[in-house]
Amino acid sequence: MESPFYVTTPIYYVNDEPHLGHAYTTILADVLARYARLRGQETFFLTGTDEHGQKVQQAAEERGISPQAHADATVVRFQNAWEHLHVAYDDFIRTTQPRHIHVVEAILEDMWHRGEIYLGEYEGWYCVPDERFWTEKDLVEGNCPDCGRPVERIVEHNYFFRMSRYQNWLIAYITEHPDFIQPEVRRNEVLGFLRQPLGDLCISRPASRLSWGIPLPFDPDYVTYVWFDALINYVTAAGYRSDPVRFERLWPHTLHLIGKDILTTHAVYWPTMLYAAGLPMPKTIFAHGWWVMRGAKMSKSRGNVVKPLDLAEVYGVDAFRYFLMRDMVLGRDADFDEARLLQRYQSDLADDLGNLLHRLVNMTGRYCEGRIPTPAEFGVEEVALSRRCQPLAAETLRRVEALAVNEALGGVMDVVREINGYLERTAPWKEAKAGRMERVATILYTAIEALRLTSVLLHPVLPERMAELWQRLGWRAPDPLRDGLAWGVIEPGTAVLSGPPLFPKDMEA
Ligand code: MSP
Repeated sequence: MESPFYVTTPIYYVNDEPHLGHAYTTILADVLARYARLRGQETFFLTGTDEHGQKVQQAAEERGISPQAHADATVVRFQNAWEHLHVAYDDFIRTTQPRHIHVVEAILEDMWHRGEIYLGEYEGWYCVPDERFWTEKDLVEGNCPDCGRPVERIVEHNYFFRMSRYQNWLIAYITEHPDFIQPEVRRNEVLGFLRQPLGDLCISRPASRLSWGIPLPFDPDYVTYVWFDALINYVTAAGYRSDPVRFERLWPHTLHLIGKDILTTHAVYWPTMLYAAGLPMPKTIFAHGWWVMRGAKMSKSRGNVVKPLDLAEVYGVDAFRYFLMRDMVLGRDADFDEARLLQRYQSDLADDLGNLLHRLVNMTGRYCEGRIPTPAEFGVEEVALSRRCQPLAAETLRRVEALAVNEALGGVMDVVREINGYLERTAPWKEAKAGRMERVATILYTAIEALRLTSVLLHPVLPERMAELWQRLGWRAPDPLRDGLAWGVIEPGTAVLSGPPLFPKDMEA
């Protein structure tokens, strides 16, 4: 039995408008989940929204409505965006749901009773828009080091989690589990951070200043710090305290996908919180790079934000997904360049893939009465192409498992180009002219079967376009889809359908 696969995205601030950064992580999680399902693994893909905190409270006040009503009205932007981008999550968690609030309360209560939490005094520089305290040395010219805006000096009583206790444990755990924090550059960053003494974590905010949060069960004058609340979403949705059997089965196989800017919260706060709560660790925390524009991080304040839905509108959702997956080496930053998107679209999708389908359907129409032909004897070329195809599924799934999605796609697209090369060399149109129809049948069958196989491997990235391709080939994809990963699956005799190009070239007009 394959182990289960549990993948999470960060839960997004419900106030934000979905942008390229959100779309990237979410599409990546979707693609990994779809490959895992293809592999036959039990798969659970979670995304959601982070709905407590100052920003939501402020935005609601400005609109003159309750924070919950504000969250209810804005969460749909994310839900609609994911639906539009063909994201098939299994669960969407909102931190304002009772199922989540119960788990946060239970964990707080338990940690309080076991002395993991104490009342102390907090003094620091607070950035209101970022909802974060900074120390004196963090500040850049007296301003927030993250957003550059002015900070306020605040002294108050607060509750603290004894995080400092677990510094040595965490260093040892990270060192002994090389897969825990990936890629290596991020692991080293965390280990570097842990060379400084680790303080305790302030996990409360006075309700007088911030009321929109989960009240501490042992002191209702305080609400839970948003990050302490938000991180717990991952165990809530996996069934912690509601379905212990499922939780035990899934949790050790968790992959948290995050952006590199939220590394400390996920790689330091979260593991120590789990450890203090007596819970096992997730398998991997993977921090991907940023999409940048000419070297600068996309952000609202810089005015260089790419709106994913606008681009998907122009190029089609699947092509947009393909570009994001093909052009980012996981872990590194990638420059978002629309000219590159266009180039990928035209060469990989329109020319290599779309055109191949078009040619095969046309030739099947012309030479084989529009039906998939029955092959005669395989020649050297057919044997070579089928040998190239047979290990492709295992190779692709292995690359995806190693989180090298761009390489996996590169490998499949190489085979698509090889099918084109095979057609050029075997030239079925010449064979037809010479009246060698058995040869035509063998060539078309082989090329169609090879294309069908590559299409199953591209389906996690291009789900809607590949379903369309199957229709054109008259192929009814089996359930489970993995049965379509074998060679020799397509049935001779089925009618093919002609239609408009899969990836039209005049879309930018
Ligand atoms: N609510 C927190 C996460 C809590 S998880 C327990 C949060 N939300 S967020 O809405 O700001 O989403 C942040 C996610 O989007 C991060 O993973 C971040 O790295 C990602 N991105 C934001 N801008 C990005 C790019 N320009 N490129 C790639 N991803 C980036 O943080």
